[in-house]
Amino acid sequence: MPEKNNTLSIGGIDCVELIAQYGSPLFVYDASVIQQRFKELLSCIEYSRVRLLYACKANTNIAIMSMLKDCGAGLDAVSPGEIFLGLRAGYRPEDILFTGNNINEDDMLFALENGVELNIGSLNQLDMYGQIGPDTDITIRINPDIGAGYHSHCITGGPESKFGIYFDRVEEVREKASQYNLRIRGIHSHIGSGILDTETFLAAMKVIQDTARKFEGIEYIDFGGGIGIPYKPGEQRIPLDEFGRRAGTQFSEFADEYGNELTLVLEPGRYLVGESGYLLAKVTNRKQTPTHIFIGTDTGFNHCIRPMAYGATHQIVNASRMEGEQESVAVCGNLCESGDVFTRNKEGIQEQELTRVEHGDILALLNTGAYCFSMASNYNSRLLPAEVLIENGKSRLIRKRQEPEDLLRGQSLESVMG
Ligand code: LLP
Repeated sequence: MPEKNNTLSIGGIDCVELIAQYGSPLFVYDASVIQQRFKELLSCIEYSRVRLLYACKANTNIAIMSMLKDCGAGLDAVSPGEIFLGLRAGYRPEDILFTGNNINEDDMLFALENGVELNIGSLNQLDMYGQIGPDTDITIRINPDIGAGYHSHCITGGPESKFGIYFDRVEEVREKASQYNLRIRGIHSHIGSGILDTETFLAAMKVIQDTARKFEGIEYIDFGGGIGIPYKPGEQRIPLDEFGRRAGTQFSEFADEYGNELTLVLEPGRYLVGESGYLLAKVTNRKQTPTHIFIGTDTGFNHCIRPMAYGATHQIVNASRMEGEQESVAVCGNLCESGDVFTRNKEGIQEQELTRVEHGDILALLNTGAYCFSMASNYNSRLLPAEVLIENGKSRLIRKRQEPEDLLRGQSLESVMG
């Protein structure tokens, strides 16, 4: 972990200075990490036509979306809102794929009117879409009967999943596509999130390839996202060389046999942005109870819900004092729920070792670039933090801190009281 004068530094900038300049709590992202992850994932796959769509549900800050566009990414959008942000960030409509779930006619129309292709994951939705947008290009989302992921909430393939058309319903897909004159350009699948082993991913790829074989004229197969990052101490990252070699070989063999110049598409979210992010917060309290030393901070699960929602681990460091005497503590937030503890697992509180924490210290929750700000809320009417991007040793505000007025969001006493 980089440090200067015993304090944590991000992209060469001291966290204490960042908090002094931008206030607390604060999300900070290191651009070089995102650029590096994009490059290494793209280049690891031993196949000539590879495309990465950034799954922006992980982080929809438009500065980050735009940076990934400049790296060469397309966009995986799951809502009209994400399409809107993608267009604002400078993505061309043809570089966006709309993978909505249980969408309505307005969502479909929004994509169509903006020239964005839809990825359809249900026979009923295929009928709905066929009536709204006949004679267009589409992608079909398949459930390969295989799921994976670090938590049941994040497994999106297999019989318990609401996503995709089961791989054995291909005949009906073909019939409906021809009924509405829809051209199936791509086959898609996403089996889950937080996958750290190559085998499951390759096994699902195999089923998708076998399914794609039943369609003529496919241009690409999109195997979704889901590549995990190490959150817990000792957790191993996916062996990229091996993954890229095996995925590339398996796919080239398939593409040769299939006969078209197929593109291999992946839709990473977490892998690209997760490790770039830090949630910095100030210590506001220290309390000894019969069981724990609780360290209170000025953030909460409204800014990082992953520990409470999934029992996920975010390692925490004392950014004000990186080295010194260690102590085991429970770090918590400022919200009115007992689940508002960052140091936990699925069962409950699990303390972490930090350098002795004093009132006013700055703590950093690591790997908070994905699914933290994008899942944040105004619960307890707490404000959303500012976001800062570090690029080439310089910091830049990429989202202003919210102000109390933002909590009114279109309400006024006149409008509610008549
Ligand atoms: N493509 C599709 C169709 C997806 O549903 C997802 C994630 C992705 C790509 C990107 O997955 P990734 O590469 O980021 O794993 N909130 C949870 C994660 C939910 C992921 C939902 N879908 C978390 O905080 O862990």
